[in-house]
Amino acid sequence: MQEGSNVAIPMRRNAAGQPDQNSRQNNQQPARYTASSFYTYMVAGVAALGGLLFGYDTGVISGAELFLVKDFKLTSGSEELAVSAVLIGAIIGAIFGGKMADWLGRRLSLILLGILFGVGAILTAISPNLTLFIVFRIIVGIGIGAASLIAPMYIAEMAPPAVRGKLVAFNQLAITVGIAVAYWVDLAFAAAGASWRPMFAVAVVPAAVLAIGMFFLADTPRWLATKGRWDDAEHALSRIAGSETQNEIKAIRTSMEEEKRGTLRELLRPGLRIALVVGVGLALFQQFVGINTVIYYAPTIFGYAGFKSASGAILATSVVGVVNVLATILSLFLVDRVGRRPLLLMGLVGMVITLTAMGVIFALGAANVGVLILIALLLYIISFAIGMGPVFWLMSAEVFPTRVRGYGQSISTVGNWGANLLISVTFLTLINGIGKPFTFWLYAVLGIAAFIFCLLLVPETKGKRLEQIEAYWRNGRTWEGEAQAIGEGRRSNEDTGADQPEPGQPRIAS
Ligand code: BGC
Repeated sequence: MQEGSNVAIPMRRNAAGQPDQNSRQNNQQPARYTASSFYTYMVAGVAALGGLLFGYDTGVISGAELFLVKDFKLTSGSEELAVSAVLIGAIIGAIFGGKMADWLGRRLSLILLGILFGVGAILTAISPNLTLFIVFRIIVGIGIGAASLIAPMYIAEMAPPAVRGKLVAFNQLAITVGIAVAYWVDLAFAAAGASWRPMFAVAVVPAAVLAIGMFFLADTPRWLATKGRWDDAEHALSRIAGSETQNEIKAIRTSMEEEKRGTLRELLRPGLRIALVVGVGLALFQQFVGINTVIYYAPTIFGYAGFKSASGAILATSVVGVVNVLATILSLFLVDRVGRRPLLLMGLVGMVITLTAMGVIFALGAANVGVLILIALLLYIISFAIGMGPVFWLMSAEVFPTRVRGYGQSISTVGNWGANLLISVTFLTLINGIGKPFTFWLYAVLGIAAFIFCLLLVPETKGKRLEQIEAYWRNGRTWEGEAQAIGEGRRSNEDTGADQPEPGQPRIAS
């Protein structure tokens, strides 16, 4: 965990990517950048390959699994381990990813991760036995965990405020595209009778593009500034901020001075503790609703439901992958219009209903339930993809105050991978222990708990500035008290002679 290595902020903005108008004195409109937006989109596109590899390398296991079971003679215990090895690595990667990005820079980190993904892909593909397969998957997992922090961090630090939300969310879209591509690649190789090895090898292509692409891009102005390389920072910034470069350099200086004040203890204080509960709670519930039993084990579930051939089960899974992408695109259009809470709550209702239905379908045990399970799974994945999927990653970037966002986001990311591991290693054991119906009903119950959690604790952050969200926590979770708190914050700073915040930027009470 580290301080200030999150989606941190060269230019003041809110985490949803909206320009943060308070960052400019007198609420001026955000800058209209004159530099190349093509360059900015290219930057985001290359870095989002980190998200694509996250999706590909987690999704690929589902189609490979049926072949691995045969080749390595897996029991349900060793099958769970083969599926979950990547997640053990991802937890490690999420813990150290932030530090790596601070030490080496975002750019060099992503180049090294590209190389790691590439080497890991080849080693996995040629694994001679289960033990080495698991070791290589852990290594790839370390890359995934680190990339799940660093890719959005790089994009957010490079993107102009006006398109930052779209570009950060683009990373989540890349994850779902990676999963879908993995499914289709699995399907192609399964249909060609090629078994599991080439499925893993294919990841070497986006890995190479990531490493080579990043080689030609600059590091973020903010990271360069933290190393005292102000000339380089200015040069990098001029490519994305154009005529606004000088103003933004000033904003980086201010933001860096403020960030020094953030500590982990600050995040654990009574007012902000609840923000941590919300961030970590969403991280855990995103996984406890069982999403990755579907993403990783879909062909196995279709196998239970009567799909006879491996390629038939993988074909059904490929449809799930495409629907996941399409529903994520829909969510990107809705999240700033409808808001976070309605999407979360509607999505959870959908997930609870479909999980319950899957339990019922398996309980009735009718002969050919494959199509029914496919329909239920598709509705389930749509419910996840419009709500919990993108909204967790987005809110994890917005619920924490800027100065402690590094800690907050790292903790919730590690929590997310940990919960992912827990669900993945227990899924088959649960199926064998309490049976299919009760396994899905258990996730439905956890979905109800998630619904209650979101209903009671998760605020609507649509259209709010980061400072408003910060004041919301400090004022006992009310939006109304914000204006008063800002006034009080200013008065107490004047009293103590402390540095004055910019207008509309309250401090966290100490
Ligand atoms: C989750 C992953 C999941 C993916 C599915 C992401 O938001 O963090 O665990 O596999 O969505 O689309």
